[in-house]
Amino acid sequence: MPTQFDLLIRNATVIDGTGADRFKGDIGINGDRIAKIGDLAACSGKKEIDLDGQVAAPGFIDAHTHDDRMMLSSPEMTPKVSQGVTTIIGGNCGVSLAPMPRPIPDPVTPPLNLLDDEGGWFRFRSFGEYLDALRAEPSTTNRAMLVGHTTLRVATMDDLEKPATPAQIEQMRALVVEAMEAGAIGVSTGLFYEPAVAAPTEEVIEICRPLKAFNGLYCTHMRDEADGVMDSLEETFRIGREVGVPVVISHHKVIGAKNYGRSDETLEFIRQSMAKQPICLDCYPYTAGSTVLSTSRAETSARVIVTWSKSLPQYAGKDLDKIAEEMGVSQNEAVARLLPAGAIYFRMDEGDVQKILKFAPTMIGSDGLPHDASPHPRLWSTFPRVLGHYRRSLGLFSLETAVHKMTGLTAVNFGLTDRGVLKEGAYADLTLFNEETVNEVATYENPIAMARGINTVIVNGAVVWDEGKATGARPGRVLSRPAA
Ligand code: ZN
Ligand code: CU
Repeated sequence: MPTQFDLLIRNATVIDGTGADRFKGDIGINGDRIAKIGDLAACSGKKEIDLDGQVAAPGFIDAHTHDDRMMLSSPEMTPKVSQGVTTIIGGNCGVSLAPMPRPIPDPVTPPLNLLDDEGGWFRFRSFGEYLDALRAEPSTTNRAMLVGHTTLRVATMDDLEKPATPAQIEQMRALVVEAMEAGAIGVSTGLFYEPAVAAPTEEVIEICRPLKAFNGLYCTHMRDEADGVMDSLEETFRIGREVGVPVVISHHKVIGAKNYGRSDETLEFIRQSMAKQPICLDCYPYTAGSTVLSTSRAETSARVIVTWSKSLPQYAGKDLDKIAEEMGVSQNEAVARLLPAGAIYFRMDEGDVQKILKFAPTMIGSDGLPHDASPHPRLWSTFPRVLGHYRRSLGLFSLETAVHKMTGLTAVNFGLTDRGVLKEGAYADLTLFNEETVNEVATYENPIAMARGINTVIVNGAVVWDEGKATGARPGRVLSRPAA
């Protein structure tokens, strides 16, 4: 046993990410790995941190992000590391920054404009080129990337309102193969959104065919999370069965007042289906969602807050009904004037959110939108809100379970070897926090605010965040799934 470590964390309450009970101990780190956990009182560290009983947990893994571009345009990733995130899963909801083998349309086809409404960032002709750029200029966090079906459609189809032809499917499949060979972890869809909504189930199955050989995943923002949620679950499971890969139900929710309470039904169906095929799901801890602005979504929401508007940016952060009133027009006319734009939509039930969060297989994912002028607070506060509001204030689950849902469970589901757990030999991704004070600070009214109680964040053995400040280290790596 070495008596001197590169980094020695003393007097930690260790929550190891597996869901097991906490224990007291010290953690010795050498290079990018955890070398020893136990009583290391006789040892020293080139650098030492004394936690005085505070928590050392695996760094949080954000199971669902849209950080494809932030890793390049703001590689310090402050909204993520400040809440303890050390690894992100990107390329979700069918929206990935790559590949774009031909010029992207101007204006950028929604919802791809969630990543960049100018279009200049859609410049990676292949997925490999994009991953190379991430490796050349690392961000603070690790990342595992999905290739988006909507991106593939925009890259290969001129008439997006139709199902893809066999020739277009062939082209998209070739792009999937290229992405998987380069190190993508799977394919995502956003079948809820135009233009992916025009894709029949068979199109998705055929495009995803190559995934099995690469041990890839299928992640989906389902076609319908409202009245047709059960049919959408069935469609998702069918795609998983026919392609022969695990599925991830993204940001599981039940939308619309008349569907409130139906998480009882969806979770029971998910539970039963999990016995027959591999199924994972994630959830963000809020009753409001956020995506591009549309009249149909606005009409079915109790409250709408505009998050960005290209034509009228001054309205970001304001309620849609107030904007309409100020303009002296109908809500629909206000939407038309604001477009292209984004919004926060209140249309979920708190009871459903709690049941889904509490469901043992549910992982935590933020679904944060990093380029919105006035973003949904989930971008900055998802993980601390689970640890503070839902764990400490409401007692929805133990701290060990909460941490497991954001670390060990997620690493297993996404195949991130030696991540998400604190054990000897694992990568030294850690978040050191105060369990009594950790909490959200960002709100709908004041959405850009750093969380409380996250003290130190370590990625691959390097401290990236310390006492409320970035250290400047950018040790993030591209992570892939193990081969089949
Ligand atoms: Zn989504
Ligand atoms: Cu998403």
